[in-house]
Amino acid sequence: MKKLLLGAVVLGFMSACNSDNMTNQNENPAKEDASSASMFKRGCASEEVRQEALKNNAELRQRFVKLEANTEKFANDLKMGKVLADGTIEIPVIVNVLYRTSAENISDAQIQSQINTLNADYSATNSDINKIPAEFASTAAGNIGVKFRLVTVNRKSTTVRSWRTNDAMKKTSTKGIDATDPTHYFNIWVVSDMGGILGYATFPESAGLWNDGVVIAAKYFGNTSSAPYDLGRTATHEVGHYLNLRHIWGDANCGNDLVTDTPTQTGANYGKPTYPLYNTCTGVQRSVMFMNYMDYVDDAAMFMFSSGQKTRMQSVVASTGARAGLRLY
Ligand code: ARG
Ligand code: ZN
Ligand code: CA
Repeated sequence: MKKLLLGAVVLGFMSACNSDNMTNQNENPAKEDASSASMFKRGCASEEVRQEALKNNAELRQRFVKLEANTEKFANDLKMGKVLADGTIEIPVIVNVLYRTSAENISDAQIQSQINTLNADYSATNSDINKIPAEFASTAAGNIGVKFRLVTVNRKSTTVRSWRTNDAMKKTSTKGIDATDPTHYFNIWVVSDMGGILGYATFPESAGLWNDGVVIAAKYFGNTSSAPYDLGRTATHEVGHYLNLRHIWGDANCGNDLVTDTPTQTGANYGKPTYPLYNTCTGVQRSVMFMNYMDYVDDAAMFMFSSGQKTRMQSVVASTGARAGLRLY
């Protein structure tokens, strides 16, 4: 209602202003045309009309200021390389390493190998992409349009042998490392061990909170010798959650992952299943997409996201999305 009223007011004002301009435009050529038709120059009143409207409408002025701020922000993002020319978003990454043994104090090379794997998997340039079964080729995501850039590595020695999924690693007061500006940076904590847990993530509703980010056990971070979780795909999976993907089985028997192009499946798959795999729920007999990063199969058995998953992730990093802050730093 408020919008309608405002629209009416602006329109009313504009037409008043327009009719003024119209009179001028009509009058001048009319007078001058009498002597010389070539004196006529075409005109556009948009900016003048706008200025008049702005002068008389505080809400419109506010909208104008916001619009220009957004435009400048986008231009700046482009300049900073945060939004690449092809629309790809570059996410700045902070890696926080909490180590007890020297093996847990993973090398810069191992950290970079994880960044490289994320970049390959999220751009569909992973070397095993050609393993996608023909049945799923048309629904494969292709390039997600999200890149990762390592900004800082923080290291801290600790006597803690084993961590739990209670976020202790994310606070100095509980022997961890505080997140670096989680609204604008993607924080990853690399810890010694979490029992059977390879990693865990916060979803986008936690964007910017103190505990926002992903935790991964050192021996599964990057290229490691921890087969069958040795290819850095624990991070690929956890970043999927960070960008709002659910497990492909919807965390329930025949559950819903809110993605229509991933077939419903009875539950998680493990190991290296052979295609086709029919643990379907109802309806047509078809293989499930166990090779999806959001299933629980071995690193070597997962190599794709679906288009529907891409849409969900893109909506999160869009300028209107929960993680739009990652575009600024
Ligand atoms: N959060 C899952 C877990 O801890 C990660 C599974 C990742 N899967 C993989 N193949 N790396 O089990
Ligand atoms: Zn998971
Ligand atoms: Ca689905």
